[in-house]
Amino acid sequence: MRKQIAAANWKMNLTLQQANELLDEIVSKDISLTSNQQAVFGVPFPYLLLAKDKIKNSKGFFIAAQNCYTKESGAYTGEVSASMLSSCKIEYVIIGHSERREYFNEDNKMLGQKVDACLKNNLKPIFCCGESLQIREQGNQNEYIENQLKEGLFHLDSSALQNFVIAYEPIWAIGTGKTASSDLAQEMHAHIRNVFNQKYGKDIAESISILYGGSVKANNAKEIFGKKDVDGGLVGGASLNASEFLEIIGSLKSL
Ligand code: PGA
Repeated sequence: MRKQIAAANWKMNLTLQQANELLDEIVSKDISLTSNQQAVFGVPFPYLLLAKDKIKNSKGFFIAAQNCYTKESGAYTGEVSASMLSSCKIEYVIIGHSERREYFNEDNKMLGQKVDACLKNNLKPIFCCGESLQIREQGNQNEYIENQLKEGLFHLDSSALQNFVIAYEPIWAIGTGKTASSDLAQEMHAHIRNVFNQKYGKDIAESISILYGGSVKANNAKEIFGKKDVDGGLVGGASLNASEFLEIIGSLKSL
């Protein structure tokens, strides 16, 4: 059965001391996850190794970087490569978050290259897609998402997409408190799965974990994660609070 994943996206938040305290509090609760459940912590680069160390005894816990560069090494001041992350034994990388697309001009082509860099280094990308309010109001969201997936991922062969992780994050729901209804999330997740089904077949499509992101909180996670094609969430604001995030992890389906 495909993985059910609660992924924290801390974004550019927390001091080292706050990061320490948050992880200590979460780990101290000693929650147990089933073999198909995972909790992933997407922390800023300077805290990756600390976070890795903190979760080392927590089964089903993993660490994610929030970005990486397309190149392996070289004169790219300020960038971090997938091979560096891999050498730190980081497992996941969030790729193509809408904030990276918007503020750092990352397009589908570049994101495809970042995905390639991750896969080459045995890192699992969490590939983000999502439409703006304008696109949704025009009713073009399905084509828009399909295009993001095609341009970013369809150069991959099917073995690379087995157990892949996608995060669907409608931009109008991120950090706004306006969560998509669980029915709307389910509808888009089913569409995304169908896009993969048509290109790669049912087995691959069914193996992909599709996370929902956009104002997921402790009080709405269970309803959203309960939907058939929603395999957990990518959580921003609510992941900065230990009890909120623990409840969100506790809302994952156990299959
Ligand atoms: P949010 O962010 O939960 O604060 O809406 C989600 C995200 O951007 O990943």
